Amino acid sequence: MNKLIIANWKMNPASEKEAEKLLIETSKKIKTLKDIDLIICPPFPYLFLFKKNKTTKIVLGAQNVHKELEGSYTGEVSVKMLSSLGVKNVILGHGERRKLGETDEFINQKVLTSIKNKVNPIFCIGESSRDRDGNFLSFLEDQIKKGLNGVTKSQIKNVVIAYEPLWAIGKNAQREATREEFVEVKIFIKKVISDLYDSKSAHGIKIIYGGSINSNNAKSFLDAGADGLLVGRDSINFKKFEALLDAIK
Ligand code: PGA
Repeated sequence: MNKLIIANWKMNPASEKEAEKLLIETSKKIKTLKDIDLIICPPFPYLFLFKKNKTTKIVLGAQNVHKELEGSYTGEVSVKMLSSLGVKNVILGHGERRKLGETDEFINQKVLTSIKNKVNPIFCIGESSRDRDGNFLSFLEDQIKKGLNGVTKSQIKNVVIAYEPLWAIGKNAQREATREEFVEVKIFIKKVISDLYDSKSAHGIKIIYGGSINSNNAKSFLDAGADGLLVGRDSINFKKFEALLDAIK
């Protein structure tokens, strides 16, 4: 099965010119690689660049969406707008948005709207710290149950779950996760999905890993059973992203 690589550009790069350069370089690179499905999630102002440059081998994703389809919501973007620009996936529940105050219930509404309108969620979960007694697992279970509330058995196959421990993501990451830590959580997520839906759904759902992924550790998470990777910092520096893609091809 192809590995799913999701580039989360976050609030980068600084200008349209740089974004277009990064897109063109990445697009050329991905054309040379097999067995990798690449989704790029740029900031909203750069979405149009993907249409302009006809990036056939790259799937377009977004970093957020609003729960309503239209109306008086200053500063928000609807799923229909995203669809009209060719967006197929959207990151929801990311730790950096939860930190801004997004609750499980709020994220759940976005998940439901997105699925209904055929933009598939990349649903992120992750604990802020670990404890020896494994209480963080109940925390993750709670995030899954609340975030996917109302998602039906026929819809769940369209959701990708990204495990992103908050202590391992972004500039302030304390350390990298180990592959054993990922495997433990992956098994746990499968169990929760199996209990919520059935074993077929648990078997079919894609579980990816994100948090300080780079060219040195990418392959080991895939070898450990991650269906893909969510890459932040190392997706916005082309040389680093190229090295990462080469390391897993
Ligand atoms: P990072 O970000 O690769 O920079 O740690 C990953 C993410 O937050 O999605």
